[in-house]
Amino acid sequence: MSVLAGRHVVLGVAGGIAAYKSVELCRRLVDAGAHVAPIMTADAERFVGKVTLSALASEPVHTSLWDDAEPIPHTVLGQRADLVVVAPATARVIAAYAAGLSSDLLVATLVATRAPVLVCPAMHTEMWEHASTRDNLATLRRRGVHVLEPESGRLAGGDVGTGRLADPARIVAEIERILSPGDLDGLRVVVTAGGTREPIDAVRVVTNRSSGRQGHALADEAAARGAKVTLVTTAALPAPATADVVRVETAAQMLDAVRAAMRDADVLVMAAAVADARPESASQGKLKKDPTTGRIAGLDALRMVPTTDVLADAAATRRAGQVLVGFAAETPAGGPALEDLARAKLARKGVDLVVANDVSRPDAGFETETNEVVIVSGVGASRVSRRDKRAIAAAVWDSVAAIRRGADPHQIRHDLHGGAR
Ligand code: CTP
Repeated sequence: MSVLAGRHVVLGVAGGIAAYKSVELCRRLVDAGAHVAPIMTADAERFVGKVTLSALASEPVHTSLWDDAEPIPHTVLGQRADLVVVAPATARVIAAYAAGLSSDLLVATLVATRAPVLVCPAMHTEMWEHASTRDNLATLRRRGVHVLEPESGRLAGGDVGTGRLADPARIVAEIERILSPGDLDGLRVVVTAGGTREPIDAVRVVTNRSSGRQGHALADEAAARGAKVTLVTTAALPAPATADVVRVETAAQMLDAVRAAMRDADVLVMAAAVADARPESASQGKLKKDPTTGRIAGLDALRMVPTTDVLADAAATRRAGQVLVGFAAETPAGGPALEDLARAKLARKGVDLVVANDVSRPDAGFETETNEVVIVSGVGASRVSRRDKRAIAAAVWDSVAAIRRGADPHQIRHDLHGGAR
């Protein structure tokens, strides 16, 4: 569940070659659940067709102060907006916005709105570096306008330099960050994800059913809420554009990566399913079958040795103020209740929170899109009913943010407590 769901976004498109990317941006915003109202300048219409954007957006494209069914479209669009994004923003639109020259619908809407504004410049390097562009952007920034700097790469006409519109995925991530509560702003967090793979020989591994989806959702949510994320993962899943991603295979590699990242981190969330044991030695080549018996001697003789507990290691070396969160995948049927198992793990690992799930339930835990969990701390427990993994992640970060400000970790947002969806 994206923070964009149900939010009104005005997408302003100015006249630059990067206008074609606004089509992709529009689609991503709509896919995330936003209501997108597009505005095109007259020049933008030279680069993309009105029909294209109208077909993808939530309402037809607005182009003029005068031709709309609304008598005063700029104030209506500006008032309804939760955010206005301009992508691409040309040097002219940036200058007009900074000067308040509201002669077209886009700039009039920018000047009329009280919603947050994100400007995504795209232009030739010479124009990007020109003193007027620099000054105008400095003015806008001083007024609280968000600016997503262009990337460097190939520009129109084959030139190479800075000025290329930021990737649509980055623009969406930035919009999510702006619209999010921002309670994790500047927090340095380490998230682990996926199941480790411990080699037996050149082709075989010992692994588990973790898909990495919950860990990646935790990283996405933290990044969207302003955290600086290091994601240590075994999964080949998309990661937040702003995250440092460390790809690992084994428990030993995960231990090294987490130790390094925790030197200057505030929070560790161990969502990874780390192997508790690994083959004592991995064979260099492939272990071969005996053609007469059909047995593989190397597998028959496999000896497993314990791995280091990454979370317990972080707990033993933790600095004051660091918050540590463990996950517990349990199958409580017939034994102690999930919450009791989680409470025991909390004490045993010496951590602040344990997020426990019953992996024997349908639609929870491994290899699923949804999850349902109990979050246990030293002072209580909260139950989060079945939701997509991003919503579970939101509840976990609510609890972490509460611990950081010394509040009750079980005061997570009301909408996360509700019934199953
Ligand atoms: N964990 C870890 N390093 C390990 C094993 C587990 O950091 N070598 C972390 C997991 O990432 C998880 C937490 O410890 O956050 C709990 O893992 P789990 O396997 O449930 O705990 P165990 O201590 O192995 O207990 P159990 O006997 O229930 O498996």
